[in-house]
Amino acid sequence: MQPIAKFIAGLPKAELHVHLEGTLEAELKFELAARNAVDLPYADVEAMRASYVYHDLPSFLAIFYEGSFVLHQEADFRDLVYAYLKKVASQNVLYAEMFFDPQQHTDRGVPFATMIEGLTRGRLEAERDFGIRSQFILCFVRERSAQSAMAVFESALPYKHLIVGLGLDSDEKDNPPAKFAEIFRRGREEGFRLTMHCDVDQQNTHEHIRQAIEDIGVERIDHGANLLDRPELIAAAKERGLFFTVCPYANEMMRPGENQSIARGMLDLGLRLTLNSDDPAYMEGKYINENMLMAHELAGFGPEDFVTVSRNAFDAAWIDEDLRAELHGRLTAYAEAQLMVAR
Ligand code: HPA
Ligand code: ZN
Repeated sequence: MQPIAKFIAGLPKAELHVHLEGTLEAELKFELAARNAVDLPYADVEAMRASYVYHDLPSFLAIFYEGSFVLHQEADFRDLVYAYLKKVASQNVLYAEMFFDPQQHTDRGVPFATMIEGLTRGRLEAERDFGIRSQFILCFVRERSAQSAMAVFESALPYKHLIVGLGLDSDEKDNPPAKFAEIFRRGREEGFRLTMHCDVDQQNTHEHIRQAIEDIGVERIDHGANLLDRPELIAAAKERGLFFTVCPYANEMMRPGENQSIARGMLDLGLRLTLNSDDPAYMEGKYINENMLMAHELAGFGPEDFVTVSRNAFDAAWIDEDLRAELHGRLTAYAEAQLMVAR
């Protein structure tokens, strides 16, 4: 393994931008399809993976949603979370905040309770078996109506102790943050932390970023690359101490060759950048370590930069201060030992 890959592999990390449905690997999809008697139109895992061809956000989302149709029972959601956390625990992820899209499942008749109970069991069993800590972020699917999102929000309230935050994902075209302002206002009142996707190069992206920051009052932006085009948005993000959850592979799909300007650009401006995987099962199996390696190869990130990224992620995490201190302690110990050797 090259020294930088080894450094990344050993680095204590947090992942803050990963869609659980986007971690559903083809092997598990076949297993769940058999369990639930769902017919899959693919002969085997190779054929299924070969079908993951997309060129923009809508064409990606069509594949991503079809994949989630195999998730039905509590055990399926448990297995999904457990497999993801097992994988990233092996990559030295100490803490993860994972998105899930309830509307993908409640629309197919899966009760909210089935989903959240399965997810929670998977999370707790992974903590028991691998020591990895984690929480959930409920994401609204933005092309659905505000009423549909409000209905999901209401069904989540009895489980709010199991969900740390609210997010917004899926197709951004004609679906601005403002559409969900009332739900996010109520969410804040109920104690949820707030984030939103502002995907790369979307329609009205600058206005979407402005709304997310100024009108909604998010603490983070997922992706958010186009903020770099506008000095006033950069200033607003700095003033509020916003965090950015950037995903190198997803960037490469949306705007090839621009990780240098996006990830490196944010870091150089002093914005609080984190690096993440987004939908690894649909992105050639690139989990967080592989995404960090892309930041090295495409944007020249070195060991010090990765330590900064991990420090930012631990600061961005929606956790109590004891756990934060523990995570920072492990990072500092690693950085001191490794960077001393490198010098
Ligand atoms: N953007 C929007 N919607 C999504 C994404 C994303 O990166 N991943 C899964 N759903
Ligand atoms: Zn995403």
